[in-house]
Amino acid sequence: MVKMPADVKETIEKQKPIPIATASADGTPNVALVGLLKILDDETILIANNYFKKTEANIIENPKISFVVYDAATKKAFQIKGSVELVTSGKIFEDTVEWVHSRRPDLSPKSAAIVHVEEIYDSKSGQHAGEKIL
Ligand SMILES: Cc1cc2nc3c(=O)[nH]c(=O)nc-3n(C[C@H](O)[C@H](O)[C@H](O)COP(=O)(O)O)c2cc1C
Repeated sequence: MVKMPADVKETIEKQKPIPIATASADGTPNVALVGLLKILDDETILIANNYFKKTEANIIENPKISFVVYDAATKKAFQIKGSVELVTSGKIFEDTVEWVHSRRPDLSPKSAAIVHVEEIYDSKSGQHAGEKIL
């Protein structure tokens, strides 16, 4: 796992919704928008799984995820890659239910998707495009 620097965390926190990419075991890609995403700590991100369908199936058979974020004010863009687990019980799940209800009382998460950040790349256009940061 890697620790997200402050500018990466700030860029993630500013973008809503975020398109998250997963892939099936046979490599079929899938992208879905998520709004209920938050940083748990420097190495970990939480996404509320309220409606995942293909995303959930993909995570079960291939627990990898990637997403990109962009901040138009700073012009910074980052690509995050990590592994993801779906948590359906215990404190993390209970905290997720409480957090979702505080934002959207009408929603009941199926699971907490816990993303363990493993790689961060520069996604800006230009000289450093695609370079690994961490
Ligand atoms: C603006 C927006 C925000 C969304 N946020 C979430 C979210 O936080 N959690 C979630 O499970 N689905 C969310 N969805 C629904 C997913 O984008 C998607 O419809 C769902 O995962 C089913 O697609 P899939 O079969 O590709 O997984 C959101 C959709 C939109 C349009």
